[in-house]
Amino acid sequence: MIQKKAKLDTESYKGVRDFYPPEMFIQNYIFSVWRRVVESYGYEEYGASILEPTELYKAKTSDEIVQEQTYSFTDRGGRDVTLRPEMTPTVARMVAGKRRELTFPLRWYSIPNVFRYEKPQRGRLREHWQLNVDMFGIADMKSELEVISLASALMKSYGAKDEDFEIRVNSRKVMNYILKNVFELDQEGASKVSRLIDRKDKMEAGEFERQAEHLLEEKTESFLHVLNSKDLDVVISALKSNEEEKSGIGEIKEVLLKLEKKGIKNLVFSPALMRGFDYYTGIVFEIFDTNPQNRRALFGGGRYDNLLSLFGEENIPAFGFAMGDVTIRDFLETRNLLPSFSSKTQVAVALIGDENFEKAQEFTESLRKDGVNVLLDSSDKKVGDKIKFADKLKIPYVIVYGEEESKSGQYKVKNLKTGEEVVVELDKIKSVLKA
Ligand code: HAM
Repeated sequence: MIQKKAKLDTESYKGVRDFYPPEMFIQNYIFSVWRRVVESYGYEEYGASILEPTELYKAKTSDEIVQEQTYSFTDRGGRDVTLRPEMTPTVARMVAGKRRELTFPLRWYSIPNVFRYEKPQRGRLREHWQLNVDMFGIADMKSELEVISLASALMKSYGAKDEDFEIRVNSRKVMNYILKNVFELDQEGASKVSRLIDRKDKMEAGEFERQAEHLLEEKTESFLHVLNSKDLDVVISALKSNEEEKSGIGEIKEVLLKLEKKGIKNLVFSPALMRGFDYYTGIVFEIFDTNPQNRRALFGGGRYDNLLSLFGEENIPAFGFAMGDVTIRDFLETRNLLPSFSSKTQVAVALIGDENFEKAQEFTESLRKDGVNVLLDSSDKKVGDKIKFADKLKIPYVIVYGEEESKSGQYKVKNLKTGEEVVVELDKIKSVLKA
């Protein structure tokens, strides 16, 4: 018996998106702001393959990402391959690979799509695009100051105001220091507590406290006090005297003070900010929407001075971040900051009479040579329907092309928004479209 074939599903794979033209328009808008702002700071674009050897992530990413979230497979040659879940190991590999030929400091950016096997939910999908901005070769706080300023400028370029977002800043050094010297945890205990802090926002408060108590016993209360504080002085008072510099507090103070001086007002010191990746070594930061509807971070990044040693290379100081397309889209949508759709096509030419098709083609080709984006509608539709079709595609102008136009060389350019019409010769059309 011949079995009837089941119909294929038109849905995309779970957790990824199709971009129909209106969505692609938004995506391109998000990318265009990314490029414009980072290039205004002198950053150069790089790229790499989506595929990486799995071992790249085993060494120093995060347990959660490697064990639970990677898309990994064995290729036909028996190699273990992973679809990149982030770009930082790739860029570190690339910098290590050519470090002798590259001139430092590097200011690099890329816009990769990355894959993580997460539970799809608001702000979290299985494929997203990230703007990655990284600076290599500067060990002092100048990287932090430039890159966090750039992150703030990105938000402003989308039309965000200070009160719309919050820049949370912490330091891995501070937390490591406090866990070791104030709460007297050994390395294993400190890493358990770090992981717990990293999961804090995903848990009920009571459950978090219960697990903290299990690890910290009688020190839990003062631990929670430090963790929930937004005040640097609370953290400083937990330290013994003269330990501010050793603990990384000095770096946070410098970053907060200098950025505030530059007019960045929405900085918040956040001791509970851990960042999931193992490679961070100093200042870390995340940007959050202040609207509680969007709970996921918009950006995340930090200093990672030791990643290049994985490739047997001398370390190079590095600081950078990634900003996701899904979360910024939610942010812009919530605040009505998304641009409305507009077509890249400047004019539609509505053909009347198939006998004029070749001449109409010549006409549209001359316009294209002049740099005009033009669609030739040679369908069987009536001319009125062709005009409606152009309007539906949001093409702003229409020229009807028939026997009369082919003979006279005079063209009526109609503005579909205002209804205004002007009659001009071929070489004047471009200037009418620009007006
Ligand atoms: P991350 O915090 O994992 O950092 O990701 C950066 C941003 O990507 C997040 O703040 C969020 O906007 C977006 N993002 C992450 N996962 C998802 C997801 N499943 N769905 C949608 N958006 C998501 C990194 O990836 C580091 N490699 C950043 C970095 C660059 N550090 C130094 N340089």
